[in-house]
Order: sequence, then structure tokens, then C-alpha cells
Amino acid sequence: MSFATRMMSIILSLQIITAFLFITATASSPPSGFTMDLIHRRTNSSSSRRSNVDDQLRSSPYADIFFETSEYLMKLKIGTPPVEIDAEIDTGSEIIWTQCLPCLNCYNQRNIIFDPSKSSTYKARTCNTRNPSCNYDLVYGDQSYTIGSLATETVTIQSTSGHSYVMPKTVIGCSHNSSGFITTASGIVGLSWMSLSLISQMGKDMLGAFSYCFSPEGTSKISFGSNAIVSGDGTVSTPMFTKTEKPGFYYLNLDAVSVGETRVETLGTPFHAVDGNMMIDSGTTFTYLPASYCSLVRESVEKVVTAEQFTLSDGTHCYKTKTMDIFPVITMHFSAGADLVLDKNNTYMADGEAICLMIMCSPMTPVAEAALFGNRAQNNFLVGYDRSSLQVSFKPTDCGVTEDKKPRDSTSAASFSQFNIKFVLFIVVLSLIRL
Ligand SMILES: *[C@@H]1O[C@H](CO)[C@@H](O)[C@H](O)[C@H]1NC(C)=O
Ligand SMILES: *[C@@H]1O[C@H](CO)[C@@H](O)[C@H](O)[C@H]1NC(C)=O
Ligand SMILES: *[C@@H]1O[C@H](CO)[C@@H](O)[C@H](O)[C@H]1NC(C)=O
Repeated sequence: MSFATRMMSIILSLQIITAFLFITATASSPPSGFTMDLIHRRTNSSSSRRSNVDDQLRSSPYADIFFETSEYLMKLKIGTPPVEIDAEIDTGSEIIWTQCLPCLNCYNQRNIIFDPSKSSTYKARTCNTRNPSCNYDLVYGDQSYTIGSLATETVTIQSTSGHSYVMPKTVIGCSHNSSGFITTASGIVGLSWMSLSLISQMGKDMLGAFSYCFSPEGTSKISFGSNAIVSGDGTVSTPMFTKTEKPGFYYLNLDAVSVGETRVETLGTPFHAVDGNMMIDSGTTFTYLPASYCSLVRESVEKVVTAEQFTLSDGTHCYKTKTMDIFPVITMHFSAGADLVLDKNNTYMADGEAICLMIMCSPMTPVAEAALFGNRAQNNFLVGYDRSSLQVSFKPTDCGVTEDKKPRDSTSAASFSQFNIKFVLFIVVLSLIRL
């Protein structure tokens, strides 16, 4: 199929599918009251004798995460016996998928490719009698795609209880044809609000809560459930929104961006909103603002930085200088007073003889222009998503400091030429069977 034909068919099937997915997304949010009950039980259980149920409620699953070039990977195990994979952490998508044998079209990954025939718990999913195998076909914002079949399989991650956190019969995607991935990861772990994401499949015990800390180097952690609640000194919280037309994505509301002392309001621009105007996406490297508003932000940077400027072919804005000192601090003002003062390393990147802005104004794909809060800008914040309180919280944290630092290999360094935009642009086929 040509690109144009492909897009046409994608767009046609999209409306029906998204409408359907939204219904399941809404239905999966926990009823109010449940949260309080669970917290009460958990609090009390700490003084009582251990039981299996208490152990499960108290334990918090987690995984080690590390940075690689343009993305954050987490470690998890799939299958029986368990096989370790590295998967990109992506709040902008739903499915947990990994490359599988047989490969029609696979990219090179660090770990061995998962072989379903060697796992005793792998079970291909059947959608209905007419359609014996359930297929999925996802296209991400950077045009990378994965096509494969849905299956149920055991997924295992670590837990604070000391025992593994085992998720039998988890729906995963087994990718047989993927392309456009610049990664050594085996696949992606979707963390969106949709029912097949990792956090949704963990069930109500985890309260729909997860948090991650992205360290520019070394290892850090992603946590789920009770350990994922972000609080304490310096924590700021902002409301989380969802959108009917983009179900599953987590939206924040950006009120303004400060460039040094200059506050650039969204109010009065087409970008202004009160119900979410910016997607927070761990799977996207840079931060994107819609062109009209972004140019105001860029102009404010230009007023401060006098070094010679130039623009790369993809629209990246750079300055011929080697010192970060001349650049203004950028603060993102999210609604409800969540002001994130970003480190210069979160907003600028040295690229050879130049320093470039990691806030992009160009449309990121031929078909979508949206605002995205990417993973580099989130570095050194503990970021908590809490679906029961509908809040995203940020706590300034030196994410790598308390962990063992892993020696970086030469391929892990950040680079301007490599970046990801991993939110699901199109779901071409996700056979209509849900949990
Ligand atoms: C907490 O647990 C203890 C021991 O099981 C029990 O005696 C007590 O009534 C519980 N407290 C509440 C408030 O439920
Ligand atoms: C993989 O999928 C792409 C996009 O649908 C298709 O063009 C290509 O032929 C497929 N490759 C194989 C080996 O099936
Ligand atoms: C920013 O990055 C530079 C170069 O990698 C490093 O030397 C510096 O310590 C970083 N600053 C912070 C606050 O992490």
C-alpha cells in the first residue's frame, strides 16, 4: 500500500475504533470510594500479621529503568520460563508488545528475540470464530509501526515484597513486522489509560497509579501502586485530563512558559485551554509546542541569547556557542500552580559546536500538530500519574543519585539526530476484543 492509501484506510477505520476505545477507557476508571477503602486496609495491615492478601496490597511492583539515546527503557520478564526484555516506557500508547519469532521484519535488539514456542504460558488470542487470530497494527507519531498478533502471556516484574510480581494471562502483542525503531529495546510498554496498558492490566489494586524518575544517566525506577504516590517537599500537582478524540492519552493544561523573567501566557493564543492542551508522553524525546505559541517562546529566548543562530533542516533551533551559561532558565507553568523550573539540561542540548533548543516548533508529523511534554524535559523529576485523583505530580529529584550507576556504553549518549515520537498516531487494527 502506498503511504497515502494507507493513511486513508487508517483514517476511515479510526473514528469507529476510537469511539469504542473511549467507552472501555471510561469504564475502566475505578469507582470513587474504592480508593479510600483500599488505603484504609493497607494502613491497618501494617500492624497486623502478614497474610497473602495483605502482602499483595502492601507490595508495590517496580522495575529498573535506564536511558538510551532518546528513550527510557524498563526491564520486565515475559513467558515461562521468564525471558528478560527491555521495553520503552510509553505513556502515549496502550499495548505491551515485544518482537517475536518468527520475524518477518525485525530490527536489531539487545536481548534475544522472544520465542513463543519455548514458553509454556504463551497462548495466542482468538478474537471470534471467523477470525482465529487477533491482530494489531499500530503506527506511532514518528511513523514507526508494529504489526503482530495478540496473545496472553505471563508478565513478571519486581516487587517491594521481595517476591516477583507475576501477572498471568496478560494480553501482549507479539510483533512480527516492525520498522522505524531506533532502539536496542525489544518493544514498548504502553502505560496509557486504555484497558490493555500495563497499569490497566495490573488491576484496581494498583489504583491506576505509577511514577517514574528519568535520570539523564545511570539507572532509576518506575513504580506502581502504593509506592507510586508522589508527595513531600517540593511536590507540585496539576490536573490530568483525557480527551474524547484522543482517548487514553494523559493531558495537562499549560498556562504559560517563562523564559528567564519573561512569562509567555497561552491566554490570548489559539493554544489556550482549560481542559488540557498538552499531552505528557514519556515515549517522546523532545517537547513540542504548536507553531503560533511556540514562536512567542522562541522569540523570548532570542531576546536573551545573542549568539549567532541557525536552524537545522528539521526546524531545530540552534546557537553557535559552547556555553549553557548564556541561556535563560525555562519554567513550565501547568494549571493549579504547578510551576516546573526546568534544568538547562532539560531544555537545551549541546550538539557539536552548537547548543540547540529541545522545545520544537515544527509540526512533528505530516498529519498531526500537537503539544507534547517529552521525556528530556521531565529529567530529574519524580513524575507520578494518579488516575484516582486525576492528578499528575512532579517532585524535583536527583533521579540517578540513590541508585547504582550503570556504566554507560558509547551508544547511550544523547544526540540531536536521534529522537522518538512514540504516541500512537493510528490504530489500524486492534481486533475489537477487550479485557
Ligand atoms: C486493624 O487490625 C487489627 C488487627 O487485625 C484489628 O484488631 C483492628 O480492629 C483493625 N483496625 C481497624 C480500624 O480496622
Ligand atoms: C510489513 O508491514 C508493512 C506495512 O504494512 C508492509 O508494507 C510490508 O510488506 C510488511 N513486511 C513483511 C515482510 O510482511
Ligand atoms: C548538565 O549536563 C552537563 C554535560 O553533560 C553536566 O556536566 C552537568 O553536570 C549537567 N547539569 C546538571 C544539573 O545535571
